[in-house]
Amino acid sequence: MAQAQQANWVPDAFQDSARKIASEAVKQFVKKGQVIGLGSGPMAAEIVRALGNFEYKASLECVPTSFQIKLEAECSGLRLADEGRIPEIDIVFDGADEVDSKYNMIKGGGGALLREKIVHYGAKQIVIAAESNKFVSKFSWPVPIEVHPFAIHFARKRLQDSGGTPRMRMLKESYPYVTENGNFILDTSFDFPPDIKKLEVELKNIPGVVEAGLFTKQSGVYFKAKEDGTFETSRNP
Ligand code: A5P
Repeated sequence: MAQAQQANWVPDAFQDSARKIASEAVKQFVKKGQVIGLGSGPMAAEIVRALGNFEYKASLECVPTSFQIKLEAECSGLRLADEGRIPEIDIVFDGADEVDSKYNMIKGGGGALLREKIVHYGAKQIVIAAESNKFVSKFSWPVPIEVHPFAIHFARKRLQDSGGTPRMRMLKESYPYVTENGNFILDTSFDFPPDIKKLEVELKNIPGVVEAGLFTKQSGVYFKAKEDGTFETSRNP
């Protein structure tokens, strides 16, 4: 299996703290025989590498949320499970693009938001790890919104009408980005209202929107990676 690519590593300044978080998260939370959900992105990849060193890794069943993290899991010798195990997931490890002061998250920078959200809602416990600069008082990132191709013009108009500024995600070669589910992404900027859950529901009510990258099911544990190589842990009461 090909080695994981450079893009699967967290930024240099956070690599030490990310590695420490990954080994701590596995030590604290993973138990023999569990079903583990694997989020996507560089931070999730770091945790996958730590899972690869878990003493009882052969007893784990891992449900990947993207081809990216599936390759990482294969490189780390983890046993993969399919979507049939999603309702039995004990714990999911994931990263985030932004985490606000109420622990809502924006996710989907890597395009895996649909499967990530399904796995989050299937899991008994969620553990999030993110760089300290992603913890913000108020969101500023555009929200990745996955849209069925047939609805792309309609959804764009509806998002504009509701005050959003949607931009179709493009590859650097100027082709539209297509998700693993065959859909497009509208990265949509908002003047964020106080009620993020309400916005999430409104977005999901637009016909043709497959998933919105606002995550309001909250994690129990957040690891914050710091540039000095240390990390902090917050527990959501
Ligand atoms: C994947 O689509 C995303 O939701 C990632 O979880 C998100 O982009 C965060 O990834 P990193 O924290 O690992 O950069």
